[in-house]
Amino acid sequence: MKTGTSVTLGFATMATAAVVPALSSASSLSATVPTVHLCGDSTMASMSGAIQGWGQYLHYSFDPSKYNIVNSAVAGRSARSYTREGRFAAVLKDVQPGDWVVIEFGHNDGGGLSKDNGRSDCFGAGNETCATTYDGKSETVLTYPTYLKQAGAAFLAAGAKLILSSPTPDDVWSEAGKYSWGPDRFSYYAMLAAQELGGTKAGVYFVPHGAYAAQVMKNLGSDVVRKNYPQDHTHTSPFLADYMSGAFVLGLTCGTSELGKSTLNSTAALSATALGNCISYNSTVPL
Ligand SMILES: *[C@@H]1O[C@H](CO)[C@@H](O)[C@H](O)[C@H]1NC(C)=O
Ligand SMILES: *[C@@H]1O[C@H](CO)[C@@H](O)[C@H](O)[C@H]1NC(C)=O
Ligand SMILES: *[C@@H]1O[C@H](CO)[C@@H](O)[C@H](O)[C@H]1NC(C)=O
Repeated sequence: MKTGTSVTLGFATMATAAVVPALSSASSLSATVPTVHLCGDSTMASMSGAIQGWGQYLHYSFDPSKYNIVNSAVAGRSARSYTREGRFAAVLKDVQPGDWVVIEFGHNDGGGLSKDNGRSDCFGAGNETCATTYDGKSETVLTYPTYLKQAGAAFLAAGAKLILSSPTPDDVWSEAGKYSWGPDRFSYYAMLAAQELGGTKAGVYFVPHGAYAAQVMKNLGSDVVRKNYPQDHTHTSPFLADYMSGAFVLGLTCGTSELGKSTLNSTAALSATALGNCISYNSTVPL
């Protein structure tokens, strides 16, 4: 997988950063085992108080002598703001060949640019661009798949493999006793970006995390789920964040990646819990 032209779309600094050795921020990690880097928003990030992000629980499903897990998710970020603030570039500096990068955005990527909050992407699935002014500076805003493909291409060029993951849904029981869920457009965009980066042959995998998260919330039921959204319908308690991590791990083991084969958990063991079974996808989807 070559980086192609997408890396030149305002992202040239990332490509050059790939040759810079890992910074001291990575010094506490074992240098001899691969790292799984997590890029995302508050639903994945380390949070405080009554809510927690699922990225904080992923390490329980991997042998620490075989994988480092680094949660670089930051609350309030979108694919656009994570790019503009140089956060993908910072992760890239720490990426070593053989590492994995998980990218999961969507909660802050919608909304539109009329009152630009610095987070909304340009609407579309392709190479559309939008001109805007944010924080007193003019900015050319790209689409969600374009941001994912730019970052993804740079990570692949640095020798990492990539998991593009669909966002967790909001509370599927926000109306008591009434289950409601359907895949959002960011789920489609993440799948599309995985395909356009070359799919599994190029070391790019899609985890339909949203679908697995909805499944476990359906199985846990209205009462349990509602009380584990203590602040709003987006941010989970530690209890539910752990299940959101489990939903990701199940999605991973139901797919074909080496990372999915390297968890401490068999698909059968995971499926014996509230997480449920593998969700069938056909061969057109890069899992
Ligand atoms: C954008 O995508 C369209 C459709 O794939 C293509 O025809 C066009 O050349 C692309 N434009 C740029 C600037 O890459
Ligand atoms: C995977 O197995 C480990 C070790 O038994 C356990 O700590 C972890 O919670 C399991 N993960 C899931 C998602 O069940
Ligand atoms: C795969 O699933 C999609 C969506 O359900 C469907 O449109 C498509 O025809 C299926 N493709 C194959 C090869 O079964």
